[in-house]
Amino acid sequence: MRRSEVSLKPCEQARWLAWRLRNILCWSLPVWRQPRALASLLNTLPSTVRPVADALAARYDLKGWERACDAQGFRESLYVLDVLDRYAGSPDAMRPGLDIGCKNGCYLPGLQAWSGGPWDGVELDAHRRYWTLTTRRAHGEWVVHALPGCRYLAGNLLDLHDGYGFITWFLPFLHAAPLREWGLPVRFLMPRRLLDHAWTLLAPGGRLLVINQGESEVERQAELFEQAGIVARALGRIESPLSPFQRRRYGFMACRPYT
Ligand SMILES: C[S@@+](CC[C@H](N)C(=O)[O-])C[C@H]1O[C@@H](n2cnc3c(N)ncnc32)[C@H](O)[C@@H]1O
Repeated sequence: MRRSEVSLKPCEQARWLAWRLRNILCWSLPVWRQPRALASLLNTLPSTVRPVADALAARYDLKGWERACDAQGFRESLYVLDVLDRYAGSPDAMRPGLDIGCKNGCYLPGLQAWSGGPWDGVELDAHRRYWTLTTRRAHGEWVVHALPGCRYLAGNLLDLHDGYGFITWFLPFLHAAPLREWGLPVRFLMPRRLLDHAWTLLAPGGRLLVINQGESEVERQAELFEQAGIVARALGRIESPLSPFQRRRYGFMACRPYT
C-alpha cells in the first residue's frame, strides 16, 4: 500500500479498497432474463401513469424493450424517453449518443428509442455486484444486446475519445456526499475535469443535456459551465409524470458550436 493510501481517512480508505477489490474480482455470473411482452411491462406501471406511457409506446419504436427491460429498467427507460421527448427537441439519429454514468444500462432503451440510433453508456463503477452475484456490467451487456448498435462501456469517461452527436448526463457528481452515498472514493470527484472532457467528445453541432438534482447542484452546475466557458441554457425544472424520483430535478442544454 502506498503512503498516500495509508493517510486517507478510514472510511475513504475502505471505499478505495472496496473499489480496487471489485475491479480485480470483476467476474460475473451470467445474466438471463425471461423476455416480457410490452403489455406485461406496461401492466407493471401505476394506473395513473399508464396514459402517458401508452402515448409514448404509440409514438416510439420500443422494439427490443421486451428482451432488454425488467420492471425497473422499463420505468426508468420510459422516464428518460419522456424527458428527452419533452425537453430535447429533435434527435440526430445519424450520430451516436453517449450516456455518462449509465449504472447498469437499465435506461439505455429509452435513449435508443428517442433517437432511433446507436448509443454508448459509460460507467466507472461497472463491476459493482448485486446479491445475485451478477454485476452492473453483465446487466448492461444484456441490455445492449437487444439494442442495435448500442454498447456498454465499463470504464472512465476520461478514457473515451469518440465524437458524439448527443450526450446525456443524469446526475453528475458535483459534491462529495453523493459519491460517498454511491460507495465511491471521493478521489473520483472531479466535476470540472469531467465536464471539460465531455465537451471535447461532442461533435460540432452536438448537444449536451445535463440533469441535476436539488438547488445546490443546479448552482454548482451553472458555475461549472461558466468556468468552463460553455454557454448552457437553463431548462428549469424537469418534470415528467413518469418520474419515479422524489427530489426535484433541473436541466441544462449546451450546444457545441461548429467553429
Ligand atoms: C449519481 S449516479 C447517476 C446514475 C444514473 N445516471 C442515474 O441517473 O441514475 C452517477 C454515476 O456516474 C458514474 N460515474 C462517476 N464518475 C464517472 C466517470 N468518470 N466515468 C464514468 N462514470 C462515472 C458513477 O459510478 C454513477 O453510476
